[in-house]
Amino acid sequence: MKVGKVLLTAQEIDAKLDEMGAAITTDYQGKSPLLVGILKGAFMVMADLARRIDLPVEFDFMAVSSYGAATETSGVVRLLKDLDQQIEGRHVIIVEDIIDSGLTLNYLMRSLRARRPASLALAALLVKEGLQRVDIEVNYPGFRIPPDFVVGFGLDYEGHYRNLPYVAVLEEHLHSG
Ligand code: PRP
Repeated sequence: MKVGKVLLTAQEIDAKLDEMGAAITTDYQGKSPLLVGILKGAFMVMADLARRIDLPVEFDFMAVSSYGAATETSGVVRLLKDLDQQIEGRHVIIVEDIIDSGLTLNYLMRSLRARRPASLALAALLVKEGLQRVDIEVNYPGFRIPPDFVVGFGLDYEGHYRNLPYVAVLEEHLHSG
């Protein structure tokens, strides 16, 4: 499988993360937000975004697994790893690499909201255009991208390509969504 067209260069991603980090720094002045990365894909955005936030942030991670086709209809995801800490009263920012159908985030945000954080926000580097099946407000969006299958910067195809420092379209998935 070959990586096709580069959709976002490392420089473009860097510049966008600068903006996102600056916005979060401004919005959370005087606060100590908890960044929650959704494994695995978000690990790279989490690391690079966090370095641009000039606040005393803390980190936690969740891991989820979709039930394949069932997820598309029900939006049910299996929680593989929950947060290590309580979030009641905390300012929580979920960090994602990509929002596709939005079903994963919809499930996670409902689950986290029930734990009564002081606030809950969402930062996502990529948002696929026109594919969200649920209304998701992305407080800190990076790029809106076409519905092609993309890899790199944390995103994989069968476990590979996560380490690419840019985002590219997989050739054989062009236009397939
Ligand atoms: C990706 C991504 C989001 C989810 C978005 O994770 O990191 O969590 O899919 O899709 P949705 O908006 O349609 O719910 P994936 O399931 O590929 O797992 P990974 O991060 O471990 O690769």
